[in-house]
Formats: sequence, C-alpha cells, structure tokens
Amino acid sequence: MLTSYDYTTARLCDGAGIDVLLVGDSAGMVMMGYQSTIPVTMDQMCLFTSAVSRARRDALVVADLPFMSYQASITDAIANSGRLIKAGADAVKLEGGSEMADTISSIVGVGIPVMGHIGLQPQTTTLSQGYRVQGRTKESAARLIRDARSLEQAGAFCIVLEMVSHDVAEVITRDVANIPTIGIGSGPGCSGQVLVIQDMLGMYELQFSFVKRYRNLSKEIGDAVREYVCDVKESRFPARSADTPKEFLKGIEFEDRKGSSVS
Ligand code: KIV
Repeated sequence: MLTSYDYTTARLCDGAGIDVLLVGDSAGMVMMGYQSTIPVTMDQMCLFTSAVSRARRDALVVADLPFMSYQASITDAIANSGRLIKAGADAVKLEGGSEMADTISSIVGVGIPVMGHIGLQPQTTTLSQGYRVQGRTKESAARLIRDARSLEQAGAFCIVLEMVSHDVAEVITRDVANIPTIGIGSGPGCSGQVLVIQDMLGMYELQFSFVKRYRNLSKEIGDAVREYVCDVKESRFPARSADTPKEFLKGIEFEDRKGSSVS
C-alpha cells in the first residue's frame, strides 16, 4: 500500500502494481503544507479521493476519515464514510482502538468496508502518546493486542499498525488471523506495508527513520526546474520553428506594443 492524493501519481502507482492506494490524511502535510493532519477537512479528502479514484484501474482505494469527521457521533461517521464512498473510495480508514468498535461496526453495518489504524495515531498524537514507538511497555503492548482484537471483531477488514514495536506487531499479525495487518514503522512481521509516497520518493523534507528512500526526487525535480529556468532565460527553449507560412502574415496591418505600425 502507498499513499496517493492526485490523479497523476495514482495512475503511476496503479500501473506499477500497487495493491492499495491510500488517500491518507497525511495529505494535510504533504499536499496542503499543514503542520499536522488535524486541519484536514472532509471536502479536501473528497477532492483527493475523487482524483485518485479516476486514476485507479486495479488497486483498492481506501480514504481516511479526517479528524472530527467520525468521533462526535456514529451518525457523522456513517454520513462522512458515505461521502468518501460517493467520491470514489472502496473503503474508509479511521484511527482508534476498542473505543471505536461501535463506530466501525455501524459503518460496516451499512455496507462500507473499514480499515482500522492503531499504534501511533497522528490525529490525536499531540494530545496523547507523542511521536514514539507504541507497545514498548507490558501495559501498552497488551492494550494494542486488545485493540486489534476488538477491531477485528467489529468487522474491520484490515488494520494499519503505525510505529508499533516490531515484536508486538508480529504478535498482533498472528493473533488477528482472519484479517491482514499493514505496517508503517512496525517491522517486517506485518502482512503488508505502507509508506507515504513523498517519503519513499524523497520529496518531503521531514523523514522518519523507518522510511526507505527509493529515489531522491527532490534533487531530480530541483535539477529539472533549474535547467528549465536557465533554458528559458538563455533562449535555449523553446526552439524557433517556422510554423506559419509567411504569406499568411503578409498584408496584415497591426500595431505593435510600441505603437509603430507593422505590416
Ligand atoms: O495518512 C496516512 O498517510 C496514513 C498512513 C501513515 C498509514 O494514515
């Protein structure tokens, strides 16, 4: 699974054989320039989701429910999940453990598949756990295992494990045997993996240590833009080509910008 927020990138990822395109609320940082996912709105998520869904041929499109689009009431959660599905998603993802079980089973109950997300939960991380590996104490490991079980029981079809201790992620993956886990910074013991595409392509300045950078597109794009700027300033681009027969222009009287008559 990789994140995707726009038509062009989603088309490339789908064509390259990615299984799941996640329209993550990480769009808040990498697309909108916010400091966190908290300001992301439903309207923004619907826009990104519709662009990605138009690009998709084979991949599953999962869209994040943004902060406060599902926490206040189950009615909100169902209505906003419906909006993402109408925008083109096949499934929605939401953050939270056993406290979200009723919400998940209600969304699933109206026929919308739900992906869970436990471990580090960026929507509430500033309020609670902070940006650190989850499950390193006996208590928090046990809570994560309980949370994963209750998401499975609530009907989630998959669970993202974000920055969960590798051993605990492996235990959870074995424990919730009927659904896959997708890890991010949670080690190789998960059923699948997800990365933010800007991180793996080296396009975004902030980088977690668990990210593998497959390319350095910041450099590639920067070099290409610098080359273009030079070419235009030094008249190397575009090349002149005679594309209008001279006689078409003969006899046409017009004023040039300096006011002298040209023909
Ligand atoms: O929003 C996002 O990109 C995510 C991934 C980090 C799983 O939720």
